[in-house]
Order: sequence, then structure tokens, then C-alpha cells
Amino acid sequence: MSDDLRLPIKSDADVVTARQQGRELAARLGFGECELTLIATAISEVARNIVEYAGRGEVVLSLTDVNNSPGIIVVARDEGPGIPNLELALRDGYSTHGSLGLGLPGARRLMDEFEIVSEVGKGTTVTMKKWLPRHTMRFPLSPRR
Ligand SMILES: Nc1ncnc2c1ncn2[C@@H]1O[C@H](COP(=O)(O)OP(=O)(O)OP(=O)(O)O)[C@@H](O)[C@H]1O
Ligand SMILES: [Mg+2]
Repeated sequence: MSDDLRLPIKSDADVVTARQQGRELAARLGFGECELTLIATAISEVARNIVEYAGRGEVVLSLTDVNNSPGIIVVARDEGPGIPNLELALRDGYSTHGSLGLGLPGARRLMDEFEIVSEVGKGTTVTMKKWLPRHTMRFPLSPRR
């Protein structure tokens, strides 16, 4: 898609930018405040992993509309060391760096779709999607009587 947002990731500042850009893009689609925070958090976790484990990579943000179902797609990819055991990496509390080990499993829970492909020595690609809920209200609630 032509309106893909391609963001190089190599520093903490880039992580913050990706988080903000993702939030802005999702807001344009009509996501609510709460979901915007979930999406932004998922983006910063995968972007932070790029900085921490691969040194550099990119986050690509795009909008999609499958069968009239709008959503945001986040792709985080790097050509870093890769992940030898994905099952382990997706487990709560697993970290090779003495961190919380909640980044990947957390991002997975926060988004609707989550896919990770990784090859040792080649790199890692995380693809996440979040669909706009159908019930998203575009009008204010009338005050309670
Ligand atoms: N892009 C990546 N390249 C290589 N290894 C990765 C990458 N992302 C994650 N990993 C590996 O998967 C493990 C789990 O990642 P996860 O983000 O869940 O936890 P963490 O980064 O260790 O801790 P936290 O994110 O909670 O601070 C990491 O410790 C690391 O070994
Ligand atoms: Mg992490």
C-alpha cells in the first residue's frame, strides 16, 4: 500500500516515534482511547526488542480493509540474531536478558492477530493486526436521566 509508514528503528527515540505514529494512524481509523493505548504499547514492545536484540530494524505501519473490516497492521522486522525457540520466547517471564519477559506475550495479548517468524542468524519478523470493533461508536452517548 502507498500509505505504508516505514519507520527505521535503532534507538529508544525511534521506539517512541513508532509508538506515537502507530497511535496516530490508529486514531485516524476511529479506535477508542483505550485501544489506542493497547496498540501503542504492543508497538513499543516489538520495537524495543529490535533495539535490544537486533540493534536495528524497522516498523512498518499500514491500514487495511478486509471485507469492510478496517484495521491496523504492524510489521516489526530485523535482520538480527533471530530467536532459537519461539515457544519459549512467547512464554510469560522468559527473557534472555534478565528482563520481565513480557514483551512478546504481552503484545500478543494486546492485539487481535499475532504472528512471529524467526530464523537464527537471519532475523525476526513480527506481524500484528488489530481490527476496529464494529460497535465503535461515532456519536456521543446521551446523558443518563
Ligand atoms: N527481535 C528479536 N531478535 C532476537 N531475539 C528476540 C527478539 N525479540 C525477542 N527476542 C528474544 O525473546 C525473548 C523474549 O522477548 P520479550 O520481549 O517477551 O521479553 P524481554 O525483551 O526479555 O523482556 P521485556 O520485553 O519484558 O522487557 C528475549 O529475551 C529475547 O531473547
Ligand atoms: Mg522485550
